[in-house]
Amino acid sequence: MPSTTAPWWRSAVIYQVYIRSFADGNGDGVGDIAGIRSRLPYLKSLGVDALWINPWYKSPQADHGYDVADYREIDPLFGTLAEAEALIEEAHTHGIRIVPDIVPNHSSDQAAWFRAALAAGPGSPERARYVFRPGRGPDGTLPPNDWDSRFGGPAWTRVPDGEWYLHLFTPQQPDLNWQHPDVHAEFESVLRFWFERGVDGFRIDVAHGLVKDPELPDLADRHGSMHPFWDRDEVHDIYRAWRKVADEYPGDRAFVAEAWTDTPERLAAYLRPDGLHTAFNFDFLMTDWNAKDLRTVIDDTFSMLGTVGAPATWVMSNHDVMRHASRYGRKAAKKWVANESYVPAGPADLELGTRRARAAALLTLALPGGVYVYQGEELGLPEVEDLPESVLQDPVWEHSGHTDRGRDGCRVPIPWSGQTAPYGFSPEDPEGTAAPWLPVPADWAPRTVQAQTGDATSMLELYRAALLLRHKHPALGDSTLTWLDAPAGILAFRREPDFVCVVNLSTEQYRLPEHTSPLLASGFIENNHLAPDQAAWLAL
Ligand code: GLC
Repeated sequence: MPSTTAPWWRSAVIYQVYIRSFADGNGDGVGDIAGIRSRLPYLKSLGVDALWINPWYKSPQADHGYDVADYREIDPLFGTLAEAEALIEEAHTHGIRIVPDIVPNHSSDQAAWFRAALAAGPGSPERARYVFRPGRGPDGTLPPNDWDSRFGGPAWTRVPDGEWYLHLFTPQQPDLNWQHPDVHAEFESVLRFWFERGVDGFRIDVAHGLVKDPELPDLADRHGSMHPFWDRDEVHDIYRAWRKVADEYPGDRAFVAEAWTDTPERLAAYLRPDGLHTAFNFDFLMTDWNAKDLRTVIDDTFSMLGTVGAPATWVMSNHDVMRHASRYGRKAAKKWVANESYVPAGPADLELGTRRARAAALLTLALPGGVYVYQGEELGLPEVEDLPESVLQDPVWEHSGHTDRGRDGCRVPIPWSGQTAPYGFSPEDPEGTAAPWLPVPADWAPRTVQAQTGDATSMLELYRAALLLRHKHPALGDSTLTWLDAPAGILAFRREPDFVCVVNLSTEQYRLPEHTSPLLASGFIENNHLAPDQAAWLAL
């Protein structure tokens, strides 16, 4: 795609497609590439610039595609390589870029390399591509160290010949050994494979986890400042090499890192000019609906990124966390467990959460930088918190010993049209369509794309209007903001030329600034006052 003056990734609105839940094209109850292709006109009219697509590669689906068996094949559940190529091409004709996920920390235990490693036995060159070690204790029956899997239980599994292998996630996701040159060469080749097929970048899964301390020390004996597996300095060498690969291709190919770091400075290190382009701003995602905290995180984001010249990203929801309409509808303290999932206390007030989600959409879309929209947030979907235990599929549920329900509640299929579940998610089939992979709530008829289209008060029309304005208004996208004086509980900032965003997070009405007129508001503006939990975009 042609490159404009500022690279697209500095200001893009990137829509996250959780492929198995977006749209089902072939009627098997699971979303697929055919479904995405059929919905490109919807995405175009929504006004997004790019799609981040969760893993679509060949996979036994032990962690819904984050266990990749072949990085150059599409899983038959989702379609074919030819369909992926067609999608990339069609999306480009709509002006939409494609950013697949890449999963370099671990493969599937069904990947050819891991099967070869098991077959070849201890000490073999095949085993050296993963992290195999003898066990501890007289018979080697104890794991090599005290590391735990992010999904619960030890991070080690023993194979029949007595060795153990490392898996920071499920046992079906063995960690690759990034000290091995084959691993570097393989992933650079995979990047090229997809760049040649036209993808515009990659979202890098667990980008901070690839390099392990070669001594594999117990966490209990942790010495020095670096963690034995998270966010080690050596990881940046990998991304410097990846950046070179991306830069070989025309059209501003870009990376976004899923990197969890202890400090903003450590995150900035991923975004140096010769490293990755962007990273998810999880500090913002984890901040409560509170003016003081949000302002702090926004300011910290800019001061951190200013040191490396990278643009900000704003993200409120994704496939790993509770949907923000439900999060913002709670007062309770939060706790992050397992794979960053969110454990709520007390029921959500969805009316409140939705009002805040509307205001938050205007806040994030007015901030300098890029924005991630997780499929369904534009429909105001809440977390589905009452999925019966019998349908839960996230491996977190099993691996936590049924203590953490996992992430299925934010992964429920998208409702498109009609009066009955699954609301056009799968094509109508007179012979009967397969049930969707997760049940869709019976009361979602008013939440479908069809029901919300043309309803000026709907979340969908708010997103459409905001995205349209964002594209047209010269003040929005990349660049900077200036905070305006405002009382506690109010966030107000100006962007040039002539644009002001005001968000009322207080419990009082707030009078709009003098000499402004509303361009767009998250709710009806009465008497020139913003109600609590309301936001407005204003022209000066
Ligand atoms: C990332 C993904 C998550 C997955 C994990 C293991 O955190 O976002 O969904 O389970 O990595 O690949």
